[in-house]
Amino acid sequence: MRNLVQLLPLVLPILSFFILTPLIHAKSVIEPCSSSDACTSLLSYILPWDSKISEIASRFQVNISNILAANSFNPEIPSLGNQILRANTHVKVPISCPCVDGIRRSMSTTYRVQEADTAESVSHGYGGIVSAEQITIVNGINASNPLLNRQSLVIPLPCTCFNNSNHGVTTVYMSYVVQSGENLSSIGLEFGTTVMDLEAINGLGQPVIDQGDILAIPISACSSKNLNWYNESLIVPNGSYALTANNCIKCNCGTSDLNLQCFPSGIAVPCSHLQCKGSNLFIGDAYVNQTAAGCNVSTCMYRGHSSGKIFRSLSSSSYVQCPGKQNYSAASPLGSPSSPNPLIPFKTVTPSPSPFPGSTRTMGTASFCPTSTQYSNMSNNGGVLGKASCCNLLLLALVLYYFL
Ligand SMILES: *[C@@H]1O[C@H](CO)[C@@H](O)[C@H](O)[C@H]1NC(C)=O
Ligand SMILES: *[C@@H]1O[C@H](CO)[C@@H](O)[C@H](O)[C@H]1NC(C)=O
Ligand SMILES: *[C@@H]1O[C@H](CO)[C@@H](O)[C@H](O)[C@H]1NC(C)=O
Ligand SMILES: *[C@@H]1O[C@H](CO)[C@@H](O)[C@H](O)[C@H]1NC(C)=O
Ligand SMILES: *[C@@H]1O[C@H](CO)[C@@H](O)[C@H](O)[C@H]1NC(C)=O
Ligand SMILES: *[C@@H]1O[C@H](CO)[C@@H](O)[C@H](O)[C@H]1NC(C)=O
Ligand SMILES: *[C@@H]1O[C@H](CO)[C@@H](O)[C@H](O)[C@H]1NC(C)=O
Ligand SMILES: *[C@@H]1O[C@H](CO)[C@@H](O)[C@H](O)[C@H]1NC(C)=O
Ligand SMILES: *[C@@H]1O[C@H](CO)[C@@H](O)[C@H](O)[C@H]1NC(C)=O
Ligand SMILES: *[C@@H]1O[C@H](CO)[C@@H](O)[C@H](O)[C@H]1NC(C)=O
Repeated sequence: MRNLVQLLPLVLPILSFFILTPLIHAKSVIEPCSSSDACTSLLSYILPWDSKISEIASRFQVNISNILAANSFNPEIPSLGNQILRANTHVKVPISCPCVDGIRRSMSTTYRVQEADTAESVSHGYGGIVSAEQITIVNGINASNPLLNRQSLVIPLPCTCFNNSNHGVTTVYMSYVVQSGENLSSIGLEFGTTVMDLEAINGLGQPVIDQGDILAIPISACSSKNLNWYNESLIVPNGSYALTANNCIKCNCGTSDLNLQCFPSGIAVPCSHLQCKGSNLFIGDAYVNQTAAGCNVSTCMYRGHSSGKIFRSLSSSSYVQCPGKQNYSAASPLGSPSSPNPLIPFKTVTPSPSPFPGSTRTMGTASFCPTSTQYSNMSNNGGVLGKASCCNLLLLALVLYYFL
């Protein structure tokens, strides 16, 4: 008996989700949990009306700079918070996903009721990511306990963690409200996932979804896990960036692969320790030294931060053959292919992602492993593997300096 009473607070909210879900004809995945840890997750918020970014931030009580980062909007424009996004724009809202009463959900957003509000209108204001029924249940709203003007409502937001993993790939999960006319294949196509994955993650018995259902969508992400960072770890969803080291460093994910690309943020904050010792390279920069023996690429890598200090190290990689010689903005004039030791600096292209949705978002290209268009040709300086990509020819990588 005592056991049952102790369990009730845990069981009731779960039951209410399960029992009421069929009643409201909207499916949503529920992740049971027991630990006290939280993960980062995303909401896909479809704007119900034109809104400033700052208004979206206060509606969900998240930091504007985090919304800018999740959507890859340029962090260097302080006034971007006043930018108005049109109704029906999809905005990614990053939220923390803790374990509340045995299931993953965020309960930290509150809403101040205004005159003429109903549970339905509040649900609509949140893009349907939370239903009117969930709002009334969580806040104990009923006929004898109606919504009151100026009342503060808890807005239960759906979220999942699933260990930040999907098929062994670092993953951030995004809660998404199914729109009219959509099906699993169209959603899979839009977010780069498969019907099978969506079915498995969301526990769908069959590939049928309805408007208003809430799906957990896996977004593959970059992780700092294998980068040997000092006292810091980051998980950054594909197509976004994270600011770190007191906003001095910006790390992009998804430029060409799922490797974090970190470089000075360019935000007007005082930053030091951005240059690798013993070189003139800044974090994210790379230099190519071409010799008869091969090609040596040195890269200044971000390595984490602690108490105001930024760690970085010079890492050197050797290749049989050099990456292409042209088309690097700051490149010094290059000798003819027969000149012995041409030094090719290629400054990192520091990206300025579009501040506006809809226009092309260019992500950074800080990696020295190029795409084929960047390296239109290989210089034939004794090499034999003309067509191979430089990344495939990696022979060794040394960390020369650490924590300097
Ligand atoms: C938002 O985040 C930035 C960077 O983490 C921080 O400097 C700023 O104080 C935060 N602002 C608010 C309102 O929390
Ligand atoms: C209405 O909600 C209040 C508070 O949650 C509860 O005490 C009351 O029993 C409910 N009334 C009905 C009719 O459900
Ligand atoms: C998450 O990780 C923990 C420990 O690493 C493991 O016990 C658990 O089964 C994992 N859960 C899932 C859903 O992968
Ligand atoms: C899913 O939706 C797309 C676009 O709305 C449509 O072309 C396709 O036929 C639909 N697929 C199924 C299986 O209904
Ligand atoms: C780094 O992290 C460890 C363990 O969390 C902590 O003991 C140590 O003080 C940290 N070092 C610095 C410089 O913050
Ligand atoms: C990252 O996102 C882009 C579109 O935003 C997609 O084309 C690409 O396949 C994604 N990369 C991975 C590894 O999922
Ligand atoms: C380029 O490499 C050669 C051979 O390793 C070395 O002698 C030369 O000093 C290097 N140049 C620079 C600028 O590091
Ligand atoms: C690349 O440069 C590093 C540091 O200058 C040096 O130790 C290494 O021998 C060089 N490798 C080649 C193949 O030149
Ligand atoms: C590379 O640079 C050369 C000369 O500067 C130019 O003619 C060529 O179009 C550039 N190629 C690309 C892909 O930008
Ligand atoms: C690359 O160089 C080879 C030989 O020098 C040449 O035949 C080829 O057209 C070049 N390719 C490009 C894309 O410039």
